[in-house]
Amino acid sequence: MHKAKLTWAGLVLFIAGCASFQAGAPAITPAMVKVAQTSGDSLEKLERGRRLLAMRCTTCHALEPVGNYTVQEWSDIVEDMADRSGLKNDEQQEIQAYLAAARKTL
Ligand code: HEC
Repeated sequence: MHKAKLTWAGLVLFIAGCASFQAGAPAITPAMVKVAQTSGDSLEKLERGRRLLAMRCTTCHALEPVGNYTVQEWSDIVEDMADRSGLKNDEQQEIQAYLAAARKTL
């Protein structure tokens, strides 16, 4: 009985976790790829950026919805957070490219 309760709690947390991941790092759409290509960014770059955002930007806090900031604000935030996340310069640019494409196609 006790064990079953714990399992339910785990499941609820798991679902909540997926929902917040979706909100903070939306899936890459064809529209996002198209808008990224106009700035010379590829699908592969967006995929790396999304993965890095989900892995490296969630160790201290949850991801905020993409719509909370403008493209320029996201760029500044990622630059600001890059040191704390131990990001290399190209990794920072991949996250910026992904967030810019996601924000422009909201
Ligand atoms: C080492 C911990 C840590 C990591 C890793 C980290 N953050 Fe933060 N983040 C913080 C703290 C602490 C704040 C609270 C405001 C502050 O101190 O600047 C914050 C605030 C924010 C905010 C709120 C706006 C603001 O500037 O205050 C956003 C958005 C954000 N982080 C996004 C990110 C992104 C994107 C990444 C990955 C590139 C990231 N964070 C990685 C610690 C972290």
